[in-house]
Amino acid sequence: MQLRHLAAPELEDHPAYDRHQEVVRVEDTATGLCAFIAIHDTSLGAALGGCRVWRYADEAEALTDALRLSRGMTYKNALAGLDLGGGKAVIALGPETSPAPALFRKFGEAVEALGGRYITAEDVGTSPADMQAVAEATTHVRGTPGSRVEDPSPFTALGVFHGILAAAEHRFGARDLAGLTASVQGLGHVGWRVAEMLSRAGAELLVSDIDRARLDKAVSAWDAAAVAPQEAHRARADIFVPCALGAGLNATTIPQIRAAIVAGAANNQLAGPQDASRLAERGILYAPDYAINAGGVIAIALAGKRGSAQAVTEKVEAIGATLAAIFARAAEEGATTAAIADRLAEERLATARRRSQAA
Ligand code: NAI
Repeated sequence: MQLRHLAAPELEDHPAYDRHQEVVRVEDTATGLCAFIAIHDTSLGAALGGCRVWRYADEAEALTDALRLSRGMTYKNALAGLDLGGGKAVIALGPETSPAPALFRKFGEAVEALGGRYITAEDVGTSPADMQAVAEATTHVRGTPGSRVEDPSPFTALGVFHGILAAAEHRFGARDLAGLTASVQGLGHVGWRVAEMLSRAGAELLVSDIDRARLDKAVSAWDAAAVAPQEAHRARADIFVPCALGAGLNATTIPQIRAAIVAGAANNQLAGPQDASRLAERGILYAPDYAINAGGVIAIALAGKRGSAQAVTEKVEAIGATLAAIFARAAEEGATTAAIADRLAEERLATARRRSQAA
């Protein structure tokens, strides 16, 4: 296995480069492993972020993903109040490569070689079984089979629910969801559970999913009304809850939204930074995606620590308080909620950096 540190000059011109602390390229010809591990920032602690497996068009695209996603994890972990930095690994599969256990073991060796500065976990394209293979070579891995957070989605859903309560309180003056209508788009691991909690809290549900069987099941489970997937954002609802794929909020969809709140689990909901302003201009309260969907990473980060069950629940529920603070400050400063979320994360990072310089 070859592990090569990318030097700063090689990275500096890259559009996704943001003073990343350490970026390595990993290659192993026997298993076909080709990976990038990007450690963006460790001011708050070791860099935690999942390992994504994808068939990229080329290596440049894989590097871009690693740089972009690792920076995102720094902000997510900082805002979630975790003492962890941000990192990410991407494994670029070649046309002939299969993601076999031997490949993940080699990847684990690379993680081990980074001495705990990067902690890996499951992400798009990886499973707990893959993490088990990684764990044969390193202890710096989370989410192996049998570990308490093999499936982080219930925690993500709990955080989203508390985020919705905070948004309802800010926008409608009460945390009571009875009588409100929520349009839940995507009824998978997270969306299903969020819908269940919303229904239990008295909300009327509009549900949509491209999976017909899942949709039918949801309609009968909560006496919900089915909506076509492409109509979910413009359904007559008070709250739009995107829990499918990203980039759903853009110049076309935002003018069509009828809801007063957008608060859901989907990653990368905004197609571009200007979409946060588009939502604000329409008076739509947006819960920044990486703030509201941090429940899973919180559970992964705290798993295994003493008294963790209680601590995890409390910290996941605190997503509601974080969002309440974001909404209040955005209103006060006339800024978008997305900008305030970034600023809060940056403030926490700046404090950590000042402390470590003083020490
Ligand atoms: P999932 O794959 O279990 O569920 C996604 C659901 O959306 C599926 O039921 C799928 O049929 C449906 N879907 C896909 N395209 C759709 C469309 N156009 N309209 C309506 N439904 C559609 O995924 P999961 O784990 O529930 O995640 C949902 C979102 O939350 C994703 O964006 C994910 O990145 C994000 N997220 C998930 C976390 C987790 O803990 N699982 C953590 C943080 C973010």
